[in-house]
Amino acid sequence: MKELNIMEATAYTSPNPLTLICSLNENGTTNLAPICFVSYLSFNPPMIGFAAGKQSHTGKRVRETGKVIVTVPGKSLADTVMACGSSTGATTNKVVENHIEMKAVDGSDIRIPVDTRLAIVATLQQSVDVGDHILHICQVDKFLGDEDRKGLYAWNGFGKVAPAAEG
Ligand SMILES: Cc1cc2nc3c(=O)[nH]c(=O)nc-3n(C[C@H](O)[C@H](O)[C@H](O)COP(=O)(O)O)c2cc1C
Repeated sequence: MKELNIMEATAYTSPNPLTLICSLNENGTTNLAPICFVSYLSFNPPMIGFAAGKQSHTGKRVRETGKVIVTVPGKSLADTVMACGSSTGATTNKVVENHIEMKAVDGSDIRIPVDTRLAIVATLQQSVDVGDHILHICQVDKFLGDEDRKGLYAWNGFGKVAPAAEG
């Protein structure tokens, strides 16, 4: 075996889970950011966690509002997901810039893309400093699924997004 750095290792675990994290901007609009550092953490109560870079607007807003919707994007959003990963909600309205069709979620002020396979509506419980990221530990309020939509995964580490069947 050969020794790898962490970026090389992420290519070995591909396809990696991919989420598009939806959070609330200060002005009430929704911000979107692709995040692969995500995991289920507990069955009972259902809990999930995601790690966002310390500079991420998503992380800042989830810590300020205590609310998040973690989504698995549908396959029509492949290019959109990559675009949302190259700008920040601190200065850009990514939904408007990328012409993303959104829909409301009952009981939440945060909206989600129409082409969503799974939406996990969650409340922040704890945030933990982890190296250059902050881990957000959240309790799940509800899971909403649409099995007819094909979900996206991250390939080549985080370099490309595509459905899993492609591999
Ligand atoms: C496929 C993919 C996966 C990513 N995974 C993460 C991640 O797990 N954590 C993270 O902090 N940023 C991740 N990023 C980068 C963020 O999406 C990017 O920094 C984004 O601009 C943050 O937007 P925000 O400032 O609006 O939160 C990923 C980007 C891509 C394209």
